[in-house]
Amino acid sequence: MSMQEKFDQLKQLRETVEAGGGEKRVDKQHKAGKLTARERLEQFFDPGTFNELNVFASSTSGKEQKFPGEGVVIGYGKVNGRNVYSFAQDFTVAGGSLGLVHAEKICRVLDLSMQTGAPVVGFNDSGGARIQEGVDALKGYGEIFYRNTIASGVVPQISVIMGPCAGGAVYSPALTDFIFMVKNTSQMFITGPQVIKTVTGEEVSMEQLGGATTHNQTSGVAHFAAENEEHCIAMIKQLLSYVPSNNLEEAPSFEPGEPGGDREQLMSIIPDSPNMSYDVKDVIRTVVDKDSFFEVQPMFAANGVIGFGRIEGKSVGIIANQPKVLAGCLDINVSDKIARFIRFCDCFNIPIVTFMDVPGFLPGTYQEYGGIIRHGAKMLYAYSEATVPKITVILRKAYGGAYLAMCSSSMRADFVYSWPSGEIAVMGPEGAVNIVFRNELKEAENPVERRKELVQEYRDNFANPYVAAGKGYIDDVIDPRETRDKIIAGFKACEGKRVDNPRKKHGNIPV
Ligand code: HXC
Repeated sequence: MSMQEKFDQLKQLRETVEAGGGEKRVDKQHKAGKLTARERLEQFFDPGTFNELNVFASSTSGKEQKFPGEGVVIGYGKVNGRNVYSFAQDFTVAGGSLGLVHAEKICRVLDLSMQTGAPVVGFNDSGGARIQEGVDALKGYGEIFYRNTIASGVVPQISVIMGPCAGGAVYSPALTDFIFMVKNTSQMFITGPQVIKTVTGEEVSMEQLGGATTHNQTSGVAHFAAENEEHCIAMIKQLLSYVPSNNLEEAPSFEPGEPGGDREQLMSIIPDSPNMSYDVKDVIRTVVDKDSFFEVQPMFAANGVIGFGRIEGKSVGIIANQPKVLAGCLDINVSDKIARFIRFCDCFNIPIVTFMDVPGFLPGTYQEYGGIIRHGAKMLYAYSEATVPKITVILRKAYGGAYLAMCSSSMRADFVYSWPSGEIAVMGPEGAVNIVFRNELKEAENPVERRKELVQEYRDNFANPYVAAGKGYIDDVIDPRETRDKIIAGFKACEGKRVDNPRKKHGNIPV
């Protein structure tokens, strides 16, 4: 064969791989509102930067592939100029099902990502284990799960669900840092509607069971819900802009931005009545750089807010109580949400700002039976263990154990500030008065009036920032308008922060 003939053969083989499952199946994919694996990668990477790997890998010997590309496209390229590895399952080839070679291809990008310190983004669209490959497929999943675990905290791992992701296959995304889902076209579940109907009699649709809304709002499995695939890819790129490429690097920094809002607004966000709510996101958006707040898990456990932002162009993790929902109480779900976010920021050198306005842990048997004790402990553990710079701003309530759980000075916040509206005490005035003055209230002529007086006395004496500030638990009581300046100065002062926790194999976070 001449070189030209050999080249023609190569061209034809490559075309076969690139055609995936063929025109009919590609049309079906498009009709379902989905892009193909290659189209997704093309949209995701900077134009012309994608390099495919293991192009001709095959589970059959010889040049012909029974399953073009083995149902997955892998490689690397640039995203906004930075190296990123990726795999995209090709649903047009045997439903994107996973056989051993398919798994080996995914493992290759996971290995490369870890070795070279670049994030990995996986587009999942698969019917699960390739039934014809039996236990080899299971072994393949196992190898992926192992790598996801070992890579955790080394490189950011992002999973994108753009079709079915069912059975044990869900555990690869679950082991990664962030899960994106697309409304109406992606589903995740351990057992599908058919099996559920047989076993429990429940009838539920695929979308209700494991769609984007379910996992973003109810289960908390996913972090982002996109309107469509283009929107999803834009959000992934946005997320990547806040995170470093690996645990030894800093997140990309941008030109110092303008503050998000007029600092005067901070004087009027918190209502005069301590029982009235407000939207803590108004505080966050005003303090961080303009338009830089990027919320994570906005639909889940909305009594807490987590997300990324920039302050003078540098990435920060933001954690806040949301007084608008459940009065900002800490409950099981928000504890899980916040603890995991703290750990992400700590793995990847992203400083943390905490805005506190927390009346306590949510009371009730549902919370106690559900294990609020072990879930709430995750926050204490995560904040205590985190060695990244931590600045806490108390906006209003800071009561009891919840005050500690929101990164008080004893959780090793580097700096703690309170607004003059801060109320730091062991418990809220109403509860405290009921306990301390129980006998007096029983005997009072007018218990309602007396109770009011005592609550006011308690508020005047204890529900302010000065008792805690007097003991040095708070560095300063600040003018709310100075909040951004204090955070900028605080993080600058922390630039050389070095804290080493004792060497150990690993701790035992109450999972
Ligand atoms: C082999 C598969 C497959 C699979 C789909 N296909 N799933 N081939 N192994 N697991 C093939 C189909 O035969 C079909 O081939 C093509 O993919 C598209 O499938 P359709 O059924 O036509 O598509 P659709 O109607 O959109 O339905 C998609 C689906 C359905 C919901 C995913 O295919 C399905 O239920 N598949 C089986 C899911 C499953 O039970 N997987 C195994 C789970 S066990 P042609 O040639 O016609 O295009 C598991 C364990 C993992 O995953 C454990 C890890 C620890």
